[in-house]
This record gives sequence, structure tokens and C-alpha cells, in this order.
Amino acid sequence: MEEFIINGGNRLYGSVKLQGAKNSILPILAACAATGSVSLLHNCPKLSDVEAAINILRHIGCKVERRGHTVIVDSSNASGYEIPDGLMREMRSSIIFLGALLSRFGKARVTAPGGCEIGLRPIDLHLSALRSMGVNIAETGGMLECVCNASLHGGHITLNFPSVGATENIMLAAMSAKGETVIVNAAREPEIVDLADYLNKCGVTVTGAGQSIIRIEPSGRFFATEHRIIPDRIVASTLMSGVACAGGRICIKEVEKEHLAPIIPIYEAAGCKISFSEREMTVESFGRPRRVRHLRTMPYPGFPTDSQALFMAVVSKASGTSVISENIFENRFRHVPELNKMGADIRVENCCVAVVEGVRNLHGANVTACDLRGGSALAVAAMGAEGQTVLENIYHIDRGCESFETVFESLGADIRRVQRAGE
Ligand code: EPZ
Repeated sequence: MEEFIINGGNRLYGSVKLQGAKNSILPILAACAATGSVSLLHNCPKLSDVEAAINILRHIGCKVERRGHTVIVDSSNASGYEIPDGLMREMRSSIIFLGALLSRFGKARVTAPGGCEIGLRPIDLHLSALRSMGVNIAETGGMLECVCNASLHGGHITLNFPSVGATENIMLAAMSAKGETVIVNAAREPEIVDLADYLNKCGVTVTGAGQSIIRIEPSGRFFATEHRIIPDRIVASTLMSGVACAGGRICIKEVEKEHLAPIIPIYEAAGCKISFSEREMTVESFGRPRRVRHLRTMPYPGFPTDSQALFMAVVSKASGTSVISENIFENRFRHVPELNKMGADIRVENCCVAVVEGVRNLHGANVTACDLRGGSALAVAAMGAEGQTVLENIYHIDRGCESFETVFESLGADIRRVQRAGE
């Protein structure tokens, strides 16, 4: 197993190009399976989750080729509607292939995804929506046996929570449904808008993406499509947390300012100076971060749950007490005991509220990544800590951050990837 060795104390300076968004490329790769055509996708990050999605596409008969950060998918000869357990488990969010398979083949056989490090990750909203579109779903022995009775039909679907994945699965199933599909209380994340942009290019008419009501009107035909994936707003907050923890001034290129609207005021409240020129964002932080009285994670356009751990690393060194409420996932504080090993003073109350008593300095320690964003938070905390940190289980970070150590090393961090001793 690989681990990061990080020696804290170096300020970060320089500029870096922001990678494409993991949470955008994944549903769009699933959508490619439904078109039966060719898609040229640019700005695709090199991530283990993306490779897992490509493996699923190849398994069902798509031709997939990667040329640098461009991925070409030809699904014209796809014929498989089953995703075996091994492939389903490689990627937590593989359930988004369900809607695409139903669109293309009218049936699907996938493993019911289990929980993961951050929560139970139920899919009841996905399944009830698909059933309302005419899909018969039998849950037997951990498998989901799905078949459309007559045909997939549109409908009027109200979500009791603006679930990102459920919104995406409905959009993917609606690509070939008979008649219009209306999603009420849809997720409004930028990744939903990016998926809608891709669908509009390949022949589906999607309106309202980014708002709470989305309408999907299939045309019955799909066209070859070229699309550029949006930048990754959560990796942007990872870089912002790096400079907020270690100090310095960095320029992040190819950001979408609008996508960062929920994040910027919070980092400014913590003492970061942030400025923009076109698609470049300069973030600087010198001195001790300031506490943020109460931060709540919310669906977009609220503060993103994916940035919660990253921001906690910042305020763990703040002057004063910060309270962070995690309102999206029920087990998303697993980085807290690891940060406390580094000298932080954080306590969790009733599973979803963390009280962060800021300390003047963190110190290096042997810590373990428990999930993608928590692991990233430990790495940026280590850059601003005194001494050496060994961070294990960095495969979590490789799921969502491309070349994490190379990016931060280019900004001046003392970080290297090593094979764990004795392995
Ligand atoms: C997506 O997960 C993202 N993953 C997550 O990013 C992100 O944290 C999350 O949206 C929220 O923004 C991808 O896009 C691949 P949800 P998803 O459905 O779709 C409950 C990362 O680090 N829920 O919006 O699974 C669920 O339990 C990852 O990049 C149900 O109850 O999120 C959770 O509490 C982590 N029933 C809440 O909704 C359902 O059927 C939000 O889940 C579905 C969800």
C-alpha cells in the first residue's frame, strides 16, 4: 500500500490548473452508454473512479479510448445490461449506470450498492423514481433485477430530498422514456447542469437544470457529441484549504467562479484573501486562520458536504471555536480522530455536529485516510503542521484527486508518495 510522507512548514506559491470534475464525468460516462453513438469528452481527470467507470463501459461492450485528458466512448455496439459485483464495487457511485442501462436496453442487472465510509448511501429515491417510470425492480440476494414492463415512460417525479444521484439516474432513464419527465425538488449542483448540457448536445431536450424543476424531453435520436467536463469545485476547495493551512499565495486556473459561490465567503471569513481575473482565482493566506462561528453543509447552493473536512482542517488552527454541522451524510466525521492525533481539539456531538477548538499549531503524526475528502483534509492539514506526517490509505485520495502529490509539490509542499515499508 502507498502512503504520503509530508513534512509541514513550507508555504505554497505558484499556479496550478484545476482538474475536471469527478462528479461530472461519472454520470456523463454513464450517459454515453445510453446514446449508442460516439462521444468525445475533454478535460477528463485521471482518477481511479473514472477508470472504474470506463471498465464498466467496456464490460457492456463500449469501445473506450483515452488520449491524455480526452476520453472517446463509442457505445454503438454495446449489448451488455449486467454489471458484475466486482465492477460495481470498484466505484461507490456505479448505481448511476442503472438509469443508462434501462434507457438503452430496457433492462439491467446490477449489484445493490452497499454503504461506504461516509454513510449507508441508500438508493430508495432512485428505485421509487424508476418504478414510477415503469421499471419492475426485484431486489433478490443483493442484486437488482430491473426490467421495463411495457416501456420506460416519463412522468412527474417529486424527490423528498434533492439527491444528486437520484436526479442523475432519473435524467439518464428519461433519455429514452416515452414522453416528458419532470423532476421536482431536483438537485441543483453544477454537475447536474453539466450532465444536462451533455444531454442537450446528444439529442435530448433538458430544461431547468440548476433549478429545482428539471424537464427532460427525449427526441428518440442520439447524435455524436463533443463535450468538455466542468472544473472540479471540490478540488478547488482542496487547494484553497492547502494554502489556508500552510500559508502562501496560489493561483488556480480554469475555475468557474459561479460554482465556488457557496465556498468563497466561508474561506474569506476564515481569513483567506480571494481575487479573480477571468477564470483564474488567486488565494492567499498569511497568519492564523480565523474561526467561523457555525458552518452548515447543505445541498447546492449551500456549502458542499464534500468540502466539510477540508474546511475543518483550516479552522482546526483558528483563533477561537468553530462549529460545523454535517447535514448530508451521517458518518462524515471520520477525519476528526485523525486530526486530533495531529494535535487538533475537536469533539463530535450527536454524530453530526463537530465543535472545533482552534489550536495554535498542529504537529505531524501517523494518520489514516478513511475516505476521499477526509484523507485530502489530513494531507493539507499536514502541510501546515510542524514536523512529519505519514498518511496511509491514500488510495482514497486517488479516487478523486489527480496526481495529488505532484500538484502540491509543484506549489512547494514537501510531500512524496512511498510504498509502505515492509510491503
Ligand atoms: C453525490 O453523491 C456525490 N457523488 C457525493 O460526492 C456528494 O457528497 C453528494 O452527491 C452530495 O453532494 C457523486 O456525484 C459521484 P445524494 P450521492 O444522493 O448522489 C440520501 C465525493 O466525495 N439519499 O445527494 O450519493 C443520502 O443518504 C462524493 O465526491 C437517500 O436517503 O449523494 C445522503 O444522506 C461523496 N436516498 C443524501 O441523500 C437515496 O435514494 C445525499 O445523497 C439517495 C440519497
